Amino acid sequence: MSSLAVIPGDGIGPEVMAEVVKVHAVVEDIFGTGLTTDVLPYDADYFLEHGDVDIDIQEIRNRYRAVLLGALGDPRIPDNRHAKQIIGGLRQQLELSVNLRPVRLRTLEHCPLKHVTSIEDVDLVIVRENTEDVYVGIGGTVRGGRPGHVAMEVGVHTRWAVDRAVTAAFELARSRPRRRLTLVDKSNAMPSAGPLWQERFRAIASSYPDVECDHLYVDAAAMELIRYPARFDVVVAGNLFGDILSDEAAQLAGGLGVAPSASYDPEDTGFFGVFEAVHGSAPDIAGTGRANPLASVMSYSLMLDRMGLREAHTAVERAVDHVLCGDLLTPDLGGIARTDEVGDEMCRAIARHDKD
Ligand code: NAI
Ligand code: MG
Repeated sequence: MSSLAVIPGDGIGPEVMAEVVKVHAVVEDIFGTGLTTDVLPYDADYFLEHGDVDIDIQEIRNRYRAVLLGALGDPRIPDNRHAKQIIGGLRQQLELSVNLRPVRLRTLEHCPLKHVTSIEDVDLVIVRENTEDVYVGIGGTVRGGRPGHVAMEVGVHTRWAVDRAVTAAFELARSRPRRRLTLVDKSNAMPSAGPLWQERFRAIASSYPDVECDHLYVDAAAMELIRYPARFDVVVAGNLFGDILSDEAAQLAGGLGVAPSASYDPEDTGFFGVFEAVHGSAPDIAGTGRANPLASVMSYSLMLDRMGLREAHTAVERAVDHVLCGDLLTPDLGGIARTDEVGDEMCRAIARHDKD
């Protein structure tokens, strides 16, 4: 038996991950994935108790096939150092260059745009480079607290990581019916990083003549997502723009409660990656039973897909469709259901799958 590491984390993390573990038990029962789960205790409490979350990332990589992550962020640790250690550690040390963030509308009621008249108009995936850009922690400040205070945050873009993200995006675009890929950047204002992305995009495109290529500046892309979302199929962007656009795009399909993600190293065949909701630990609703568990369940579903467990993946996706088109919804989607009620409904829908 191989296993999955479950890191529930902080805030609503443990609440939503409890539902993922329940869903996995049903999936395991029906489809026999052979995957057990180990719950790991790395969260804010662990940090406050030990003064550090100095975990051996390589050991996690070697021991588990994938990590299912809840969310990390706790008001008691204002600089979120523990979150950076765990999430940053996983992304950087395991070279998880590719972050997939699919957005697919399941029912028109969840789209805030009145001009979207078909669920097919919102079906896109943002491929975000996941390890570089302004997230590398290079920078500094001088003359702090004085009028001349200088703050620098350096954006790093390497050909290696750009190539990995762009290639993954082309591969994904090729596997989808519309076969269209949009590069999003700010090359008009970023004369160093912009040309690198543009040049590598063009070079890699030559191996994918069957994929239609397109380019937008990030400000125009932010507008186009609202004006005409149907123009997007797969989008590839750097870490910062991908982060921002994916929250915006998520809102087109119901918001952060239904926004999943998968992060992986495309060359690592032994470890499938880290699967986590786009949202954070939502301290404002933690402990109230209002958290939507679907974003985390859908991230689990992305893991099943990436592992090639097609039947199980299809069953979970159909159950998500069923729940989202029904009335048993958490408050973020206009319902009154609790986190565990949505999880239970998911389990029932998956269990019915093989009888359909
Ligand atoms: P957030 O995503 O936690 O919350 C934003 C808003 O969305 C809140 O009003 C929240 O109630 C709502 N929301 C989020 N997830 C929801 C769900 N599943 N169901 C229903 N409503 C949901 O972002 P925020 O407030 O900026 O950050 C809170 C903490 O989470 C911070 O410490 C932040 O650093 C951390 N964070 C962690 C992430 C991670 O673990 N990957 C990602 C983003 C933020
Ligand atoms: Mg974000």
